[in-house]
Amino acid sequence: MKNSWRAVAVAVSTVLFSVTVIAASAEDWTKRSIYQVVTDRFALGNGSSPRCATNERKYCGGNWQGIISKLDYIQGMGFDAIWISPVVENIEGTTIGGEAYHGYWAQNINSLNANFGSDEDLKNLSSALHERGMYLMVDVVVNHLVAVPTNTSSVWPETFDYSLLQPFGGSHSFHPQCFISDYSNQTDVEQCWLGDASIPLLDIDTENSTVVDTMYSWVKNLVSNYDIDGLRVDTVKHVRQDFWPDFASNAGVYTVGEVFTGNVSYVASYTEGLDSVLDYPTYFAVYDAFNNPTFGNMTVIADVVTQAQDQYNHGTFYVGSFVENQDNPRIQSTVSDQSVVKNFITWPFINDGIPILYYGQEQGYQGANDPANREALWLSGFSTEDKPLLTHVQALNSARKQAISYNSSFLTTKASFISQSSISTLAISKPPLLTLLTNGGNSSNATWIIPSTAGLYSPNETLVDVLTCDSVMMASDGSLNVVATNGLPKVLMPTEALNSSGSFCGSGSQGSSVSVGPNGSSASAGSNGSSSPGGLKGLNGEIVVVIMSLVFTGIVSGMLIV
Ligand SMILES: *[C@@H]1O[C@H](CO)[C@@H](O)[C@H](O)[C@H]1NC(C)=O
Ligand SMILES: *[C@@H]1O[C@H](CO)[C@@H](O)[C@H](O)[C@H]1NC(C)=O
Ligand SMILES: *[C@@H]1O[C@H](CO)[C@@H](O)[C@H](O)[C@H]1NC(C)=O
Ligand SMILES: *[C@@H]1O[C@H](CO)[C@@H](O)[C@H](O)[C@H]1NC(C)=O
Ligand SMILES: *[C@@H]1O[C@H](CO)[C@@H](O)[C@H](O)[C@H]1NC(C)=O
Ligand SMILES: *[C@@H]1O[C@H](CO)[C@@H](O)[C@H](O)[C@H]1NC(C)=O
Ligand SMILES: *[C@@H]1O[C@H](CO)[C@@H](O)[C@H](O)[C@H]1NC(C)=O
Ligand SMILES: *[C@@H]1O[C@H](CO)[C@@H](O)[C@H](O)[C@H]1NC(C)=O
Ligand SMILES: *[C@@H]1O[C@H](CO)[C@@H](O)[C@H](O)[C@H]1NC(C)=O
Ligand SMILES: *[C@@H]1O[C@H](CO)[C@@H](O)[C@H](O)[C@H]1NC(C)=O
Ligand SMILES: *[C@@H]1O[C@H](CO)[C@@H](O)[C@H](O)[C@H]1NC(C)=O
Ligand SMILES: *[C@@H]1O[C@H](CO)[C@@H](O)[C@H](O)[C@H]1NC(C)=O
Repeated sequence: MKNSWRAVAVAVSTVLFSVTVIAASAEDWTKRSIYQVVTDRFALGNGSSPRCATNERKYCGGNWQGIISKLDYIQGMGFDAIWISPVVENIEGTTIGGEAYHGYWAQNINSLNANFGSDEDLKNLSSALHERGMYLMVDVVVNHLVAVPTNTSSVWPETFDYSLLQPFGGSHSFHPQCFISDYSNQTDVEQCWLGDASIPLLDIDTENSTVVDTMYSWVKNLVSNYDIDGLRVDTVKHVRQDFWPDFASNAGVYTVGEVFTGNVSYVASYTEGLDSVLDYPTYFAVYDAFNNPTFGNMTVIADVVTQAQDQYNHGTFYVGSFVENQDNPRIQSTVSDQSVVKNFITWPFINDGIPILYYGQEQGYQGANDPANREALWLSGFSTEDKPLLTHVQALNSARKQAISYNSSFLTTKASFISQSSISTLAISKPPLLTLLTNGGNSSNATWIIPSTAGLYSPNETLVDVLTCDSVMMASDGSLNVVATNGLPKVLMPTEALNSSGSFCGSGSQGSSVSVGPNGSSASAGSNGSSSPGGLKGLNGEIVVVIMSLVFTGIVSGMLIV
C-alpha cells in the first residue's frame, strides 16, 4: 500500500540518514508520534500467529524481526517512532510470576534477550526504522537486576547466584536487601528493593561510583551500538535524583522517565535530570475523567495540566503523553461506550506532549490490569479494515502533523483551556487546533461555548472537524457554539490550516508527511457518516462546498452553529 508515500519516505531518508546519524534531541522528538509495543506480544518474524494466553505470563514469540515485518502497519497509522520493551538478557525459566516475556527482569545487561532475536536483528530493526525516517526508543532499567533466590527456605537476607548478575557479579554492587515499606521516605524508595521475596528486584547500588561509571558507559555503548534515538527509563524515582543528569548526557539522546505517581511537584523534580517524564499526573486525571463517565470531572484535567505546565522543566512540551500502557488497565476493560473511548484516545495527540499510543488501542483491545493488558496483537490479524479506532488514530496523527507543518509554533505554544460550564466537557486550544472533548457518552448532546473574548479565530471563519471532515463556522461576533450529538470528540482546524498541505479533509493530493486512511470507512461512526477523515476525497477547499456541508451537517447530525 501507499507506494508513492514509501517512495517519498525513502527519498527523504536517503538524504537525512545515509550520511551521518545525528543523535535525536528532545526537541526533535516533539515532532514525533510514538507507538509503544510489548516486543513479545506484537508480531513474529515468521508471520505465524500462535495462541497467547496473557494469564499464563509466558513468552508468546513476538520478536524484533516481527516488528520489522509490521512497520507498514505502524507507519500507516501515522507513527514515526516506536518504543520497544527492554532489550537485554532477562532471567530464564518460570517463576511464580511467570516468565520474563515483558523484559523488565534483567540479569545481564551486556547481552541481549535471545527470545527477541540476535544482535543483527536489533541492528536491522534500528536501520529499518531509520530507512523510513522513523525513530527507535528503547526501554532501559537502571534501578535493579533480577535473580531467583537460591535458597527458598526463609533465609534472610536471601541468597543469590551473583555470578549470573552481569556485569556486576557480586553482592557489593547492590544495596543490602530490604523491601520498600515507606513511600514517604525517599531513602527507602531509593535504596530498598522493589518486588518481593519470590521475585526480588536486586537494587543496584547507584551510590557506588564504580557501579555508576559502569551504568554510564553501558548506556553510552547501548545507544551507539544500536543507533538508538531515545530512551524510556524505568523506575526513575527509585534511583537518587543526581544520578540522572550524567546518565542522560552519556545517553546523548532524548530520555523520558517513568515516575509512577500523580503528584505533579514530585514528578516535576525529575524533569531536571532527564529530558522529561511520562506524564503520569495528567494520565491519572484523564483516566479518572473517562473511566467513570457519570461522575468523572473533566475540569480536573485542566487543573493538573496547568500545574504541570508551570512546574515541569520545559513545561509539558517534552513529556510522553499517554492514556494506556503495559502497567495500567486499558480503558475498554471498564468502558464500552465507543464515544467515550474515542474522546479518551484523542487526548495524547492534541496537547503539548509527545503522543504515545500503546499497541492494541487501535484494535479496541480490552485487557484490564497486568497481565491482561499485554495481549498478542497478531491475534487481531493486523487488520486495518473496519477499525474505527485505527482510523481515528490516523486522523489524529494527521491533524497533529498538519498543525505542525502549518505553524511550527504549535510545538512551543502551551495548550490552554477555555472554561466550560459543565464538568463533562473540556475545550482545549492549541492553535491551530481546537479540541472539544466530552465524557457524556454516546447518548449525550455535549455543548461547548467558546466566547469571542477567547480570540481564537476570526468572525465567520470556517473550521473543519478533522475527525469527520464536517465543518462549523465561527459566528459573526467571533464566538463559537457547538452542540454534538452522540458524545463524540471534535478536533477543529481552520480550513486555511488544512489547505497548507492539501492532503487531509482537503484537496486529495497525498502529502509526504501526512498518512491517510486505508478507506475512511466507519470513521465517523455515530455521526452522519457523510464524510471520511482519512479518506482521499475531500472538499477541495471550496467555500461553497464547505458551507453546503455545514448546512447538511447542521440538519443531519444535530450540530448547531450559532
Ligand atoms: C515461528 O517462530 C516461532 C518463534 O520463534 C516458532 O516457535 C515457530 O515454530 C515458527 N513457526 C514457523 C511456522 O516457522
Ligand atoms: C539484516 O539486514 C541485512 C541487510 O538488509 C540482511 O542482509 C540480513 O540478512 C539481515 N539479517 C537478518 C538476521 O535478518
Ligand atoms: C538454605 O537455608 C537453610 C537455613 O539457613 C540452610 O540450612 C540450607 O543449607 C540452605 N540451603 C542452601 C542450598 O543454601
Ligand atoms: C562498589 O562496586 C564494586 C563493583 O562494582 C565493588 O567491587 C566494590 O566493593 C563496591 N564498593 C563498595 C564500597 O561497596
Ligand atoms: C528511611 O529509610 C531508610 C532506608 O530504609 C531508613 O534507614 C531510615 O531510617 C528511614 N528514615 C525514617 C525517618 O524513617
Ligand atoms: C507531593 O510531592 C511533594 C514534593 O515531593 C511533597 O512535598 C508533597 O507532600 C506531596 N504531596 C502529597 C499529597 O503527597
Ligand atoms: C471539578 O473539578 C474542579 C477542579 O478541580 C473543581 O473546582 C470542581 O469543584 C469540581 N466539580 C465537581 C462537581 O466535582
Ligand atoms: C452506546 O454505548 C453502549 C455501550 O456503552 C452501547 O450498548 C450502545 O449500543 C451505544 N449506542 C450507540 C447509539 O452507539
Ligand atoms: C503561529 O502560531 C503563533 C502562536 O499561536 C501565532 O502567534 C502566529 O501568529 C501563528 N502564525 C501564523 C502564520 O498563523
Ligand atoms: C439530543 O439531541 C437530539 C436532537 O436534537 C434530541 O432528539 C435528543 O433528545 C437529545 N438528547 C438528550 C439526551 O438531550
Ligand atoms: C460575517 O457574516 C455576516 C453574515 O453573513 C456578515 O453580516 C458580516 O459582515 C460578516 N463579518 C465579517 C467580519 O466578515
Ligand atoms: C489555499 O490557500 C491559498 C492561499 O491562501 C489559495 O491561494 C489557494 O487557492 C487555496 N487552495 C485551495 C485548494 O483552497
